[in-house]
Amino acid sequence: MKPVLVLHGPNLNLLGLREPEVYGRLTLEEIDRRLVEAGRELGLDVSTAQFNSEGGLIDALHQARLWAKGVVFNPGGYTHTSVALRDAVSSISLPVIEVHLSNVQAREEFRRISLIAPVCVGSISGFGWRSYWLALHALGQVIEGK
Ligand code: DQA
Repeated sequence: MKPVLVLHGPNLNLLGLREPEVYGRLTLEEIDRRLVEAGRELGLDVSTAQFNSEGGLIDALHQARLWAKGVVFNPGGYTHTSVALRDAVSSISLPVIEVHLSNVQAREEFRRISLIAPVCVGSISGFGWRSYWLALHALGQVIEGK
């Protein structure tokens, strides 16, 4: 089993309660449970973490360098603002896939810009919790070099 990190950014701890018409009704705990299960079928040992602070996310990315083969990352609102997170992603030399539950291209103008996307292998957006599920499948293939 290949160890991978699924990392969630700010406000995602409130999933299920927060704007369910945009982000769905599943809680973060339920999404994580589904991803751990999906990982087992893909040969991926999925660990999950959520931080509201940029520092927490940066530390988690730095740590991942030491144990993970890749990262599925939803940077939340920091997607559109954080040079520090972008630098963290490009510093760790691990494949990182950016995900968003909502289709960020179809929302407000400011969400169309991602500072993180250019340093990721790719981005998946708009499929609800399945954005993470699709990203895990993609990450498995990237790790295998397929
Ligand atoms: C989000 C999209 C971001 O624009 C927003 O700030 C979030 C969630 C998503 O998963 O759709 O917090 O990353």
